[in-house]
Amino acid sequence: MTRIVLFENIHASAREVFEAAGFDDIQTYPSSLPPAELPAALRAAALVGIRSRTNLTADLLGQLPNLQAIGCFCIGTNQVDLDFAMTRGVPVFNAPYSNTRSVAELVLGEAILLLRRIPEKNARVHQGHWDKSAEGAYEARGKTLGIVGYGNIGSQVGTLAESAGMRVIFHDVEAKLPLGNARACAYLNDLLAQSDVVTLHVPGGKGTQNIMNATTIAEMKRGAILINASRGTVVDIDALRAAIDDGRLSGAALDVFPTEPKNVNEPLASPLIGKRNVILTPHIGGSTQESQQNIGREVAEKLVRFAHGGATKGAVNFPEISYVEPTGTARILHVHRNAPGALGTLSSLLADHGLNIVTQQLQTRGQIGYVISDVDGVVTDEIMAALRAHPITIRCDRM
Ligand code: NAI
Repeated sequence: MTRIVLFENIHASAREVFEAAGFDDIQTYPSSLPPAELPAALRAAALVGIRSRTNLTADLLGQLPNLQAIGCFCIGTNQVDLDFAMTRGVPVFNAPYSNTRSVAELVLGEAILLLRRIPEKNARVHQGHWDKSAEGAYEARGKTLGIVGYGNIGSQVGTLAESAGMRVIFHDVEAKLPLGNARACAYLNDLLAQSDVVTLHVPGGKGTQNIMNATTIAEMKRGAILINASRGTVVDIDALRAAIDDGRLSGAALDVFPTEPKNVNEPLASPLIGKRNVILTPHIGGSTQESQQNIGREVAEKLVRFAHGGATKGAVNFPEISYVEPTGTARILHVHRNAPGALGTLSSLLADHGLNIVTQQLQTRGQIGYVISDVDGVVTDEIMAALRAHPITIRCDRM
């Protein structure tokens, strides 16, 4: 019996996937538990599902010998001690792309609203003004959208923007296949000089810190719009405020900030608060019912593929092996210390116990190697005990 424990109100789509795959021992919690209660709640769990508020520390993981895999039903995985999980032979899965469409739709919507100066007009009507002027209001059709970072989200934004009649250009540090009629710009300043709306979809980190700063913002077209739904560190906020204040940029939308409030009652501290034609949203680019449903399904499917066949494709801390239909009479999952000759040692061990290898897949990553062996023969408890006792073995399971 495989026990699954799900915390933090994970979407019902996950349970549907587990049940359809034949799992029926599923415990769900509406929120996380205090750290002191987690060991007891997880002691019998083979698979655990969490979101961002459950910390799976080395200390906790060390108390869970039955745990086989972890699903983070979100994007981030730093709430789990990934290295420790890896050295215990426990893969960790997440859902990096389930909210791509949600972010892309928000960005296109913001581009259209800002081109029409809707944030400002909306505020004016609420304040009792009825100003019907068309000044500074433009259609999206025919305008140029410049996408910085043409990955999963950036390329989706481009496709949506073309359907609204925009001309799409992009800049990426890697060569990317353009979708639709999008055109690549080799240099960022070339893109900035042409774009009516610039939208940022790069990763965080040192390489992208403040790529939009006083110099690059000055290279944008006068009256252009800047949208950032990527990472808060990518834009120099003071430089953006200065450009909004003196009218060089006509609007901006920010979903992410250098420092974000920790809870619902903490206000955002930002020099952009109260500025005209500036949309500020609380990092909700990817937060939709659809993305939650997609995340539930995507992570549950990865856990099922692991539990049923040992597949680790998409694991963030583990050698990746895709799902392959079992051949042979049994399948052995073997995690070992990544040392020369480990595969040979395992194969000899299997042969010594009369098991004939039908197919074998090996991948290594950092300190560990992972082998899925389909064998013919009977894999007895004695054989499993011998495999587990061998010094190269970190973990060994049969299915
Ligand atoms: P991705 O990894 O698919 O795409 C990123 C692209 O940026 C890659 O093509 C990469 O080559 C390119 N890149 C890296 N450095 C660059 C540079 N200096 N200049 C130009 N291009 C560069 O990532 P994905 O999934 O499209 O996510 C993009 C961003 O959106 C990430 O920062 C992610 O954290 C953020 N995000 C924000 C959400 C929100 O709620 N606002 C939700 C989901 C993701």
